[in-house]
Amino acid sequence: MGPSFDAPQAPPHRPVLYQEVLAALRPRPGQRYIDGTVGAGGHAAGVLRGSVPDGLLLGLDRDPAALEIAGAALAEFGDRVHLRHAPYTEMDGQVQRLGWQAVNGVLLDLGLSSMQLDEPSRGFALKEDGPLDMRFDPQQSLRAADLVNTWPEADLADVLFTLGEERRSKRIARAIVDARPVESTGQLAGIVAQSVGRAGGRRHPATKTFQALRMAVNDELGQLEKGLQVAVGQLETGGRLVVISFHSLEDRLVKQYFKRESMDCICPPDQPTCTCGHQARVKIVSRKAIRPSEAEIAINPRARSARMRVAEYVGQA
Ligand SMILES: C[S@@+](CC[C@H](N)C(=O)[O-])C[C@H]1O[C@@H](n2cnc3c(N)ncnc32)[C@H](O)[C@@H]1O
Repeated sequence: MGPSFDAPQAPPHRPVLYQEVLAALRPRPGQRYIDGTVGAGGHAAGVLRGSVPDGLLLGLDRDPAALEIAGAALAEFGDRVHLRHAPYTEMDGQVQRLGWQAVNGVLLDLGLSSMQLDEPSRGFALKEDGPLDMRFDPQQSLRAADLVNTWPEADLADVLFTLGEERRSKRIARAIVDARPVESTGQLAGIVAQSVGRAGGRRHPATKTFQALRMAVNDELGQLEKGLQVAVGQLETGGRLVVISFHSLEDRLVKQYFKRESMDCICPPDQPTCTCGHQARVKIVSRKAIRPSEAEIAINPRARSARMRVAEYVGQA
């Protein structure tokens, strides 16, 4: 019998695709792992349980409040766990500081946690009033209020269109600029709802606006682009990178990065001989994105948009 991978019963944040993540990472004793987005530590606990008695885990998060929760949740694993306040783009420096050479697996479970969404003071929730904040890291200076109150209307519309895939981006940007200063999440949600009307759908009309602002405040696509490169650079041959995204732009970025890094040549297809010298660094483990089952979505509706991709480091030729 292998180790038990039962997910915790009522965690503050229910880990998405829990069994699938552990099946992909294949935690084993004596190995080292990085959870670049440790959150409430749900996936991390699974990795530590799966690598009993001596597997090690480095857990990173930009949010000190998440690290506190993870610290309590993972206390039973003692010195097998190292938690650090850092973005996953800086995992290379953290790995070096621990004196590790390389790791056997890296997990990036993108976006925000239920704890962050459920705490109005963080400014992520559109159903409850709070400050227009949306920072994962409270030490960062840029807040959502800065974008909303100072960005030119055209830039605001652009962010809503690209990051929120919001078709009514121009109308919403206009309404925001007209209503300045916008101080709270409740006020912003109201402005958006008034400008586009309630379409009668299940989702609040400001859902896409909030998503776009959150992604812009935290530079989530920029983090991901850099983080993928840094993560592959930490892997031992045969080590795996697992990425769960909740946004089509993120999933596309992961898919394209894995594809490019799995090719021996990235010259234009019409070029007769290769001049790029590019060599494959990974093999794609899951051709198609892995999606949650209907059973998981029924228990955890937040999992609905999750897409998981897995790549394995093949070493430098
Ligand atoms: C979906 S939650 C992770 C949940 C976690 N897998 C669990 O089982 O509890 C995402 C976490 O990533 C953190 N985060 C977002 N962007 C980050 C980044 N660039 N670097 C490090 N942490 C980040 C957020 O603060 C949040 O706590």
